[in-house]
Amino acid sequence: MEPCANALDSATTLAKPLYNQLMTAHAIEIQNVTRRFGETVAVDQLSLTIDAGEVFGILGHNGAGKTTTVRLLNGVLTPDTGTLRVLGLDPQDAGAQLRKLTGVLTETPSVDERLTAYDNLAIFADLYSIPHANVEQRIDAVLGQFGLRDRSAERVGGYSKGMKQRLALARAFLHEPQLMFLDEPTSGLDPIAIQDVHKLIRQMSRDEGRTVVLCTHNLVEAQRLCDRVAVIERGRLVAVGSPRELAQTVGAEVRYRVEISADQQPHAQHLLEQFAEITNLVVSEQSFNFTLRDRETVPQLLARLVAQDIRVYAIEPQQPALEDIYVALHQERG
Ligand SMILES: Nc1ncnc2c1ncn2[C@@H]1O[C@H](COP(=O)(O)OP(=O)(O)OP(=O)(O)O)[C@@H](O)[C@H]1O
Ligand SMILES: [Mg+2]
Repeated sequence: MEPCANALDSATTLAKPLYNQLMTAHAIEIQNVTRRFGETVAVDQLSLTIDAGEVFGILGHNGAGKTTTVRLLNGVLTPDTGTLRVLGLDPQDAGAQLRKLTGVLTETPSVDERLTAYDNLAIFADLYSIPHANVEQRIDAVLGQFGLRDRSAERVGGYSKGMKQRLALARAFLHEPQLMFLDEPTSGLDPIAIQDVHKLIRQMSRDEGRTVVLCTHNLVEAQRLCDRVAVIERGRLVAVGSPRELAQTVGAEVRYRVEISADQQPHAQHLLEQFAEITNLVVSEQSFNFTLRDRETVPQLLARLVAQDIRVYAIEPQQPALEDIYVALHQERG
């Protein structure tokens, strides 16, 4: 066993904060990776780093290379060129160790339809080396988290599509992995189950410091969950950053919402219309919405309103919609 893997083994027995500290900077490093299937370049000179503890989204059209990237990171595929590191390890050499530290929800997860949900999970508990004494309790906990406790003794063949997806998610969470790969995790789930999954992802990242790599087409989901996203197109990295950073890249304008005392609305509207930096002013019952190109003008605007005795209850920037950013990024590239 290589020295790095030894270090990692002992690190897994340490308390989580210290473990995270050891893992620090990058949970994942992708350097100049290319992977072809015949003539198709599925991943094209991709370089990317993902920090420990972040929820990182991989976005892209159908066939962009998201699943291929995840399969490379899981050691299922070998890169033609370039290097990959997952928790400091090469997924090609350290598959067995990484399987214990990572959880994977594949794009089309398969569950054993002949077995019950409980038995499906018990097999994986064994594969993940969960200590015998903890298995029952751990399985019960994930079955509860994914709303399957009542149906745990049924054969999975009789499950609906969404229930199978929930079981696959429960399986990926079973061993409380340090790093999760979730390829389209909410596909086929009902709105309440989607909310539950979002809650769990947030809990794993914010409260427990775990890293989540999320492939999704759902831009609202990405906006809600991801600290940073990478947009890929034909295997190439188009942009990477937080939704806010990406908005700047594409020159997306930031909209502001101002809340003003109802009786002063007409006066305030007049002042806002006079303010040269404001465009696309929308007046609603309780507030005004408008675009300001430069945030440096916010204090001036505020000063002008206050000087006219307007009671301003709130002024807040609205997060630019990831959907608009995504469309703009693709339009920019024709
Ligand atoms: N095993 C394979 N054999 C041949 N071509 C493949 C294979 N896996 C992926 N590809 C090709 O590589 C490209 C990237 O596919 P990939 O599955 O990574 O896309 P994706 O971004 O996950 O798409 P989707 O959003 O549809 O899931 C596609 O052109 C696909 O046809
Ligand atoms: Mg895919």
